[in-house]
Amino acid sequence: MFHTDFLDGVDNPILFFDSGIGGLPYFKRFRERNSGVGAIYIADRDHFPYGHKTREEIAGILIRLAAGLLQRVKPQAAVLACNTASVSALDALRETFPSIPWVGTVPAIKPAALASETRCVGVLGTDRTIEDSYIMELAKKYGPDAKIVGLAAPDIVRFVEEGGERAPEAEKERMVSPYIERLRTAGADTLALGCTHFLLLLDTFRRLAAPDIAVFDSVEGVVRRIEDVLESASNCGQRTAGAVLLLTGSAPVEPLWRKRACAFGLDIRRLDSPHVSEKACE
Ligand code: DGL
Repeated sequence: MFHTDFLDGVDNPILFFDSGIGGLPYFKRFRERNSGVGAIYIADRDHFPYGHKTREEIAGILIRLAAGLLQRVKPQAAVLACNTASVSALDALRETFPSIPWVGTVPAIKPAALASETRCVGVLGTDRTIEDSYIMELAKKYGPDAKIVGLAAPDIVRFVEEGGERAPEAEKERMVSPYIERLRTAGADTLALGCTHFLLLLDTFRRLAAPDIAVFDSVEGVVRRIEDVLESASNCGQRTAGAVLLLTGSAPVEPLWRKRACAFGLDIRRLDSPHVSEKACE
């Protein structure tokens, strides 16, 4: 099946960016409530993982990626469905492309800090996110008296990216359990998930953390923010319901990405051959 461009059926879309699969739970929640709005999910598999790169590298990657896309699409809004990208590149993207409303993702430190009774809050993310000063700024603002235990968990990110969301429960638990135990030992009673990839293992996190550690995520907050932006957009244009998964990189589409696209009901395209629509479901 051939298209004139990957825009077919996704006029004035919302763009969602992540290094891989992490942003899909955000995309899914958005689509459940806004199925009439076109959407393109960009999985930057070519630069995965972001979490080991510097702030400057990540900003450069996303500016180049956005510049290429914005020559072909006129989005209503763009969402960084990735904490690492948000702490590293949100300001630079807003500055470079000021006419686009940009929505970022930050760890749910605010509700986690407000709910903590032990005044010890766990934050789990990538190395880049955990080391970023923004985490401490949020902590100071919403829990100045709380101790923040920040842990980087790049092994969970890789596990999920390689298909861990489909792994047997025992394997998921083997990945998540050491982090929960470290937080428990430190006395944390709340945990803010600070990497979108972890949302794919949310049930495992919740089960292992219960009953003494409450898990907080940013999905609802981010989706509401996008909905606010859309309501206030004065020129929404014609809305259609197309949804596309766009992969970066020249590698063929891996079977895993086909399965994911099929599960999420998405058409797959590759950024460097956007006219070819790959079949997600056999
Ligand atoms: N999903 C990304 C986040 O929320 C990070 C994954 C990566 O390291 O690329 O931080």
